[in-house]
Amino acid sequence: MAKTKTPTSQFVCSECGYTAPKWLGKCPDCGNFNTMQEELVRVETATPAARSGVAQMKARALPLSKIGYERFDRVPSGIDEFDTVLGGGIVRGSLVLLGGDPGIGKSTLLTQVSAHLAKTHKVLYVSAEESCSQVKMRCDRLGLNSDNLFLLNETCLEDIEADVDGNEFVVIDSIQAVYTEAMSSAAGSVGQVRECASKLMRIAKSKNITFFIIGHVTKEGALAGPKVLEHIMDTVLYFEGHQEDNFKLLRAVKNRFGSAQEVGVFEMTDEGVKSVRDYSELFLSESRGVAAGSAVTPSESGNRCMNVEIQTLISKTAFGMPRRMSLGVDYNKLVVLIAVLEKRCGIPFFASDVYINAMGGIKLNEPSVDLAICASLASSATDIPIDKYTAVFGEVGLTGEIRAVTYADKRVNECLKTGFKRVILPEKNMKSCEKYKNKIELVPVRYVGQMLKALSLRPTQN
Ligand SMILES: Nc1ncnc2c1ncn2[C@@H]1O[C@H](COP(=O)(O)OP(=O)(O)O)[C@@H](O)[C@H]1O
Ligand SMILES: [Mg+2]
Repeated sequence: MAKTKTPTSQFVCSECGYTAPKWLGKCPDCGNFNTMQEELVRVETATPAARSGVAQMKARALPLSKIGYERFDRVPSGIDEFDTVLGGGIVRGSLVLLGGDPGIGKSTLLTQVSAHLAKTHKVLYVSAEESCSQVKMRCDRLGLNSDNLFLLNETCLEDIEADVDGNEFVVIDSIQAVYTEAMSSAAGSVGQVRECASKLMRIAKSKNITFFIIGHVTKEGALAGPKVLEHIMDTVLYFEGHQEDNFKLLRAVKNRFGSAQEVGVFEMTDEGVKSVRDYSELFLSESRGVAAGSAVTPSESGNRCMNVEIQTLISKTAFGMPRRMSLGVDYNKLVVLIAVLEKRCGIPFFASDVYINAMGGIKLNEPSVDLAICASLASSATDIPIDKYTAVFGEVGLTGEIRAVTYADKRVNECLKTGFKRVILPEKNMKSCEKYKNKIELVPVRYVGQMLKALSLRPTQN
């Protein structure tokens, strides 16, 4: 009789979390090579709830009217923008994941928050990467009064668990540096990260402790084992921005207790991370209106609207294949819009290298930036600068038509507030912006060609 074999190991993709019973050179899910790592499979002996000691009660279905409201107790973090991104403060008993590149300021931000919370609450900062004296030195450097803050230098999750009792807030710096004894794989591997995160979740929910968990991002810009971690967390925040820039953006990508599109703007100073309230000039350059290739668009992120400048540089291709490079703008979007300008407006790009950049390290994902990308490309191609006080927004279709976008009135209002004099917008959005007609010049357009004409970039028949 054939012996039945119980699987003791599996292979997990370190980029996307895909699992396979045998090793594969290429992950079938995300397509990356050499990312499959062996993980030991632990045989489950009891349900997760039974293991964590939570008494199991049989859940019963109830009509909606019988269900009471749960009040979320929110605690201010001491940093306004951080509270905004969290949806109005820290929710007790929640699990918050903070991701970002190394050196962006994750430890700094959470040290400041911990020091603030430690004035009135019991806070434990678990530093698995740095020694306690390094954390103390950081507190001194930032001028934080943190006498009540508890520090722990520990990497074993079971030992951390023994110390968290009695604390209201716990910071884990970072999840990739801690390991659980239940698994034999190395700290930072997908299995370890997943196991540690779900263990922390059970502790958070059973003991009503709020956990802040720091996570490193992979070179592709996602959290290591992102899909594995995100569904466990209540809130997932990403710290973005160039290392050399002082300004950083904190973006909520998932939030069970607030909007998942909030963005916080921070400045890195000698005294640590500071909230930036006035961000109107942050993503604009001084050469705006003088140099060709720069266009401004009001971009909506979360509950705020910011004017962002897009810059394009076009140079003659030296070799056969023209290069296209984009920073902060989706590469595919850039290629599509170049094709639209070539085909619909007759602006040639086939012999030019195109470099495009969104100022201030911001990432522009929404469709409304299409028109500004076209304006920036056309301005650079024709070498004619766009007027400093003109902003552009709208979605561009493949036929060259301009489609309506969301929050048009909010965008126009932002332009008005920040001193712009003219806005080029989709014709279909005009109705919602009628109220601003007397305060700011509104130029409705239906085709990309009309926008180019309105900006005097090129006389066109379209
Ligand atoms: N001893 C120091 N003196 C001055 N600046 C520092 C010092 N240590 C760190 N920084 C600055 O603080 C930034 C954020 O560091 P940190 O919070 O440790 O980043 P992370 O935890 O995201 O890796 C660093 O990029 C660096 O510029
Ligand atoms: Mg750190």
